[in-house]
Amino acid sequence: MFQLSPQIPSGFRKYDHLKTRMARAIAEDVATGLSASQKSIPSKYFYDERGSMLFEEICRLPEYYPARTEISLLRQNSPSIVRSFGHGYLVELGSGANWKIRYLIDALGPEKRSKTCYVPVDVSSSALEASAMELLRMYPGFCVQGLVADFTTDLHLLPDDRRKLILFLGSTIGNFDDAQTELFLRALSNTMQNEDRFLLGLDLVKPVEILEAAYNDSRQITAEFNKNILHVVNRELDADFNQNDFEHLAMYIEAKNEIQMHLKAVRPVEVHIGKLHMTVFFEEGETILTEISRKFTFESAEKMLHAADLEITDWRTDAAGWFAHAEIVHRNGG
Ligand code: SAH
Ligand code: TRP
Repeated sequence: MFQLSPQIPSGFRKYDHLKTRMARAIAEDVATGLSASQKSIPSKYFYDERGSMLFEEICRLPEYYPARTEISLLRQNSPSIVRSFGHGYLVELGSGANWKIRYLIDALGPEKRSKTCYVPVDVSSSALEASAMELLRMYPGFCVQGLVADFTTDLHLLPDDRRKLILFLGSTIGNFDDAQTELFLRALSNTMQNEDRFLLGLDLVKPVEILEAAYNDSRQITAEFNKNILHVVNRELDADFNQNDFEHLAMYIEAKNEIQMHLKAVRPVEVHIGKLHMTVFFEEGETILTEISRKFTFESAEKMLHAADLEITDWRTDAAGWFAHAEIVHRNGG
């Protein structure tokens, strides 16, 4: 854990908490995931350098409404969010390209900015560093303390010597299943002091055509992004996945309110994973689950947050009701 007291430094510093752990984690996760009856690979492995770039491209697609809808919410509401926060740490979990945070940094204005430190948290070290450098070009003298860490296990590393506003945008929380959601929110709740605030971006339930189009874009960028996870496994674990053996599949499961993303074997496939001394067989039509993206309602969001002693104090949506920002406090504080 790092502390700023007594002074806010300017410029960029990076704390790499993953360096050596990542290699072991991917080996264990892939071995477990590909041995199960529904094969799966955890979605955090999408985001190598190429994956992070493809995701940025997804965010610019006309079909991918969540990105632009969330930005419109930030454009509108950043001044009031910043007013209730004051200054301290702006912590962003899964910060990616740092696009969205700029609205909040702008809204801070020079005075509060000089008393605030931005803490991007991401597994992708290269994306984190490149984005931080770009941010510092826009706001010279700003304090950026990047944390390369896994937000599913490392929230205890967050600083606690000043008030913080924690942001978890892009509906990334929807990529967790029930058990992961519970663990994540419990850990987050434990790091929150009374004055801290949590701003959570949530994609909302809506007609299936709109949802499915967002994950099946006409330029096939999402398909590319999905298949990139096979590149990552090939490179990191010395495997021989052939992209052409698999096809991108994304569908909305209405009963679960979730998009599921799979890679489907288009023929019988045999894959060797060198570093795991493992051979994996796929029947034709068999899939690897690579991501779920759950969609929320106010009620379902409130229920999951309550279970972790978190309380929604503000709920803002766009006019169409497609995306929401929940402002959240700890139930014992606030
Ligand atoms: N917040 C951005 C990016 C969302 S994409 C936006 O709203 O557009 C998800 C981001 O989370 C990526 O940058 C990815 O590298 C990061 N990420 C995914 N799993 C992670 C994990 N377990 N720990 C930390 N970062 C993670
Ligand atoms: N958090 C994003 C979402 O659930 C992640 C995402 C968007 C994604 N498009 C994707 C993940 C395509 C995998 C493939 O919308």
